[in-house]
Amino acid sequence: MTRKWWHDVVVYQIYPRSFMDSNGDGVGDLKGIISKLDYLKDLGIGAIWLSPINKSPNVDNGYDISDYYDIMDDFGTISDMRTLVDEMHSRNIKLIMDLVLNHTSDEHYWFKEAKKGRNNKYRDYYIWRDKPNEIESNFGGSAWEYDKYSNQYYFHLHDKRQPDLNWENPLLRKDIEKMINFWLDFGVDGFRFDVIDLIGKEVDNLITKNGPKLHEYLQELNRNTFGKRDVLTVGETWGATPEIAMLYSNPNRNELNMVFQFEVISLDKKEGGHKWDLAPLDFMKFKKSFSKWQTCLYGKGWNSIFGNNHDLPRMVSRWGNDKEYRVESAKMLATMLHMQMGTPYIYQGEEIGMTNVKFDSIDDYNDIECLTMYKERMQQGYNIEEIMNSIYVKGRDNARTPMQWSSGKNASFTEGIPWLKINENYKEINVEQALNDKDSIYYYYKDLINLRKKYDAIKYGEFKLILEENKEVFAYTRTYKNEQLLVICNFYEDTTEIIVPREFLGKDYSILISNYKEKTSLEEKIKLRPYESIVYKL
Ligand code: GLC
Repeated sequence: MTRKWWHDVVVYQIYPRSFMDSNGDGVGDLKGIISKLDYLKDLGIGAIWLSPINKSPNVDNGYDISDYYDIMDDFGTISDMRTLVDEMHSRNIKLIMDLVLNHTSDEHYWFKEAKKGRNNKYRDYYIWRDKPNEIESNFGGSAWEYDKYSNQYYFHLHDKRQPDLNWENPLLRKDIEKMINFWLDFGVDGFRFDVIDLIGKEVDNLITKNGPKLHEYLQELNRNTFGKRDVLTVGETWGATPEIAMLYSNPNRNELNMVFQFEVISLDKKEGGHKWDLAPLDFMKFKKSFSKWQTCLYGKGWNSIFGNNHDLPRMVSRWGNDKEYRVESAKMLATMLHMQMGTPYIYQGEEIGMTNVKFDSIDDYNDIECLTMYKERMQQGYNIEEIMNSIYVKGRDNARTPMQWSSGKNASFTEGIPWLKINENYKEINVEQALNDKDSIYYYYKDLINLRKKYDAIKYGEFKLILEENKEVFAYTRTYKNEQLLVICNFYEDTTEIIVPREFLGKDYSILISNYKEKTSLEEKIKLRPYESIVYKL
């Protein structure tokens, strides 16, 4: 495999609204990010994925762009963006920009023009029909909104203030290319493409995801924009199977470098239900899913590895134990992910084990998806406790509460009133505390990041699930030439015993990392403590 810079780099995702506020308006901004670059450099990450920073009326916190060439007022100016890119590059950190190409804000110039009438030059940049069909929006309700003025409906797969772009229109595609080239010339080092699997939709055939022309569009985009540069491209694809992921990420096809796939993310909801319809995690499926993705893409594509992002609940609350074993379980989950092949993504606050939040009142929530669901389910007669519980478990604001920098006022996120309440556990869980404790989750992540740089087995080793039928332990090997790693993670709070397969015994070994001070030696029978994880190098 040709080696690429993103094979040993760990990417850190910043949700700018919640990262660091420099001017006291309660909202994070670019200058705030600049002030924390040394912190990130010290963690060892090689790139930052910035959630959207373009101009936006913030219906969906920046995922509704009204000007692709400008910066959101809350975040700063284009000159702050220049400084940010330069400051990052001087620290050898690359910038991955988030681009929303499936839809714009209804305040985008193109849509304002399109609404002027059927003959407007930009009418066909969006999707208009005389009659709606049964397609539903991902945020709930119909995907069609009536426009009185022209007596037609326009299509939106998210909020009605996020109209979908019509990728069948070559003029739109040219305008998108122009914009991407503008940002490449500006100096960005890659893109995360929002809901990219939706751009090939054929609404009349009821196709939204993975439409027939999707890959053709991506190849065209690649050819005319980023394909000529050494950048990282990752697409968000909720509907990808490994076969589909290979289409995107097979280097010979010239599309993207990798995708985010969400198979394991969907394992704790009722089958056929919505994400809000909760079910316990099926751990056996969870292990098998990771294993499938690791093996299917081996040598044929590339994985992205993550357990958190701005749309997901906090991993330690979801799959770990955010009470008595917060530190142990956060480290175990990090080990389980970071020893896999692919590019790992850390979401802000993950490196200090930030947890989910519980606000008593719906008024304290901000996320459009959650508020839409609340309204809908209240009307449908759901019980309020059940609704709030789904929000506590799955709501996107879990990930969006401000970054906890210290135990001081507003967790030192802002001098003003934070746009979203801070998780009250900031007094115990914060960066200052983590930096002062050499056993903190932060330093553990730092070690994991360094290990990836050092060992080819972590970057390129073949993955093999072992102890497949074990219902408590996730264990696998990574093998590259004569380097072999044995990764063992106890996923639960009970002590458990495993029998180590013979092939791993009787050899010289070292321990690369472990989340308990007293190290467990590699023997035929191993007793694993609560959430214990350990990586042996054979
Ligand atoms: C993606 C984003 C999410 C956003 C949606 C619509 O899923 O990650 O935050 O709401 O697209 O743009």
